[in-house]
Amino acid sequence: MKRLWALAALAGLSLQCHAAADNTLITQGEYLARAADCMACHTQEGGKPYAGGVKFTLPIGTLYSTNISPDKQYGIGGYSEAEFSQALRKGVAKDGHLLYPAMPYTAYARFSDHDIHALYTYFMQGVPAANLPNRSNDIPWYLAARWPLRVWNIFNASQQKNAVSTPQNETPLERGAWLVEGPGHCGACHTPRGWMMQEKGTTSASEDYLAGADIEGWYAPSLRHLPYDAQQTALLLKTGHNTSSAVSGPMSPVITHSTQYLTDEDAQAIGVYLASLQQGRPDTPTSVQATVTDPDNHYLRYCSTCHGKDGQGTVDVIPALRNNLAVMADNPANIVQVIGQGAQTPQTIGHLSWSMPGYRNTLTDSEIAELTNYVRGRFAGKQEKVTASQVTQILGQQ
Ligand code: HEC
Ligand code: HEC
Ligand code: HEC
Repeated sequence: MKRLWALAALAGLSLQCHAAADNTLITQGEYLARAADCMACHTQEGGKPYAGGVKFTLPIGTLYSTNISPDKQYGIGGYSEAEFSQALRKGVAKDGHLLYPAMPYTAYARFSDHDIHALYTYFMQGVPAANLPNRSNDIPWYLAARWPLRVWNIFNASQQKNAVSTPQNETPLERGAWLVEGPGHCGACHTPRGWMMQEKGTTSASEDYLAGADIEGWYAPSLRHLPYDAQQTALLLKTGHNTSSAVSGPMSPVITHSTQYLTDEDAQAIGVYLASLQQGRPDTPTSVQATVTDPDNHYLRYCSTCHGKDGQGTVDVIPALRNNLAVMADNPANIVQVIGQGAQTPQTIGHLSWSMPGYRNTLTDSEIAELTNYVRGRFAGKQEKVTASQVTQILGQQ
């Protein structure tokens, strides 16, 4: 009898150990899922977590992301770990069809087997099942065949073969490179695309990597030569603003769903890696000069109360306009969007969101153009002028 008790106690203990091991894996998996921002693409605003249905407009038509909750009927509840690994690292679904590269499997190829194991455990045990069917894609039948993706993969997914997964004994630089090139898939927005819609570079070895790209009427600036140091980058990723900048557009959900949850070490590692990207084309100011005049005193009237007469802003609340990426980027999309629509810093844990009003109802597109030219000229020495029709194009017809 005693033996039986001992056996039962042992079994109980091993069950407990098992549960503790799984809990650690679930926590690791959740951290990786956040660093990889699976949420952004697989959860609709206000929708059930990971139930899919997010719309992607591709040149060939409309694609919807799929349900990746552990639901057996509509989600990935029937995926084995090996199948999950194929989907994440190779872009192949359970039934063998190839996934569109809107799913960033070329970046996720850098996940190690252990990372995949943790992610799989999290998705199967840490995410509630959502019994919601997938939406059918709106792609004309003659373009819907997925075989061209095989050709695309041959040209563009070759780095999968020699992808580096989490290096051991890593330095902050190595860790940062892995986070940015791998899970963070920062290049999906910040790297310009080539004629096959592929990212022109996928590692720091290419000067096109993270060199800036247009996205949804905004401009994801070059992350090479950021105008601030690693610590300021880390602060921006964790809070949505730093001493000289604030995030306003499509970067905002990246911060709320993903980067604010990074550990301080990981956020700093990303900063260290980005600071190491010294070659390539940066978004930098030309010679800073103040020979421009304020058209109709619009800057003084509408902007100076908050940003200051000299564009100095208020630390941690209102961004300065000097050394500010939105102002000094060659591409004027962000400054025009911010003046036209207004902006809000992302809401992050322990940080209030600050906002700026939009001026499209107060100023005409040609006045917005003049004000943009004044701000870019005065605070970043930009000579190029934005026209009223460019403003209309960026903001859309009213
Ligand atoms: C940038 C957007 C984006 C991100 C980020 C993203 N996905 Fe996806 N994912 C998609 C899209 C779009 C599809 C559907 C592709 C298709 O139908 O060809 C997809 C498909 C999938 C599939 C295939 C499911 C099926 O059978 O239909 C799995 C599994 C998956 N994603 C898991 C993940 C996980 C896990 C993460 C985070 C580690 C993630 N995804 C992050 C866009 C994304
Ligand atoms: C969904 C597209 C998208 C993804 C993914 C993305 N970014 Fe961004 N990022 C943008 C856009 C657009 C801007 C500029 C406009 C804005 O503020 O949203 C930006 C701005 C930035 C800025 C400059 C902020 C400033 O004004 O000083 C930094 C730094 C940055 N991103 C880093 C990253 C890093 C690191 C990653 C990966 C972890 C990443 N981004 C992923 C779209 C993206
Ligand atoms: C009520 C205060 C307020 C007023 C008035 C105001 N701003 Fe802002 N502005 C802000 C805040 C707060 C932000 C940060 C929001 C964000 O970008 O997420 C901001 C952001 C910006 C940015 C983007 C900075 C970045 O780092 O991405 C620019 C450019 C800018 N303002 C220019 C202007 C101009 C030009 C005017 C006048 C037409 C103006 N602002 C009026 C408060 C104000």
